[in-house]
Amino acid sequence: MIAIRTSRELELMRTAGKITRDTLLYLGEHIKPGVRTADLNALAHEYILKQKARPAFLKYNGYPKSICVSPDDVVVHGIPGSMRIEEGMIVSIDAGAVYEGYVSDAARTYAAGRISTEKQRLIDVTRECFYRAAAAVRDGARIGDISAAVQTHAEANGYGVVRALEGHGIGRKMHEDPGVPNFGKAGTGVRLRAGMVICVEPMINMGTWKVRFEADGWTCRTEDGQPSAHYENMLAVMADGCENLTE
Ligand code: MF3
Ligand code: CO
Repeated sequence: MIAIRTSRELELMRTAGKITRDTLLYLGEHIKPGVRTADLNALAHEYILKQKARPAFLKYNGYPKSICVSPDDVVVHGIPGSMRIEEGMIVSIDAGAVYEGYVSDAARTYAAGRISTEKQRLIDVTRECFYRAAAAVRDGARIGDISAAVQTHAEANGYGVVRALEGHGIGRKMHEDPGVPNFGKAGTGVRLRAGMVICVEPMINMGTWKVRFEADGWTCRTEDGQPSAHYENMLAVMADGCENLTE
């Protein structure tokens, strides 16, 4: 079952979304060579609590921290710890907040100091994949329209599209129906309706689309060790388009 949100629910989700957006902007200012990933986690945790919300990821399915910090070949779900960010890394930050019972979830990939033009292009194309997908979101469109938009643009640029993980509906829980894959055919899948809220989140690899999970059960890395980027926003479906709740 896919929930259709009332205008009151959308108002709360807008606030939840703004908290996550602001958290990501705040963290972006702290992504610098030398910072420990645990420091970023602590900053995010305090920031979210100050907004009268709580971190959505902490204890979610046993996840031990408040955000995910995923450098270079870590695709997603990197667990913050003692590791230090180094010059030239790209760092994906995934964060979420729960406000008045409604969840928000979004992600960005940031540059630490100066990065290679290849890494910058990966970040740019991943963001473009998101915007092309978002342009397809409106009442009556289908999930496959989103999937195809991401896959077409990523593969046209020679990149691999992660298949092991996908976008999702969101609301009172972080992961609700429908699943939103980043690969597939336009004109297929569930039909979107005004009032649905979904997270669209391309995870794009410079090399192979294949990934592996570490023994911690969370950390997802590219199989070939090449870098990966992530861009995620929460979109409310409207009659003639969508509203981005986290940007
Ligand atoms: N933001 C992730 C997603 O989009 C969820 C993070 S998993 C968690 O699905 F366990 F860290 F919460
Ligand atoms: Co998500």
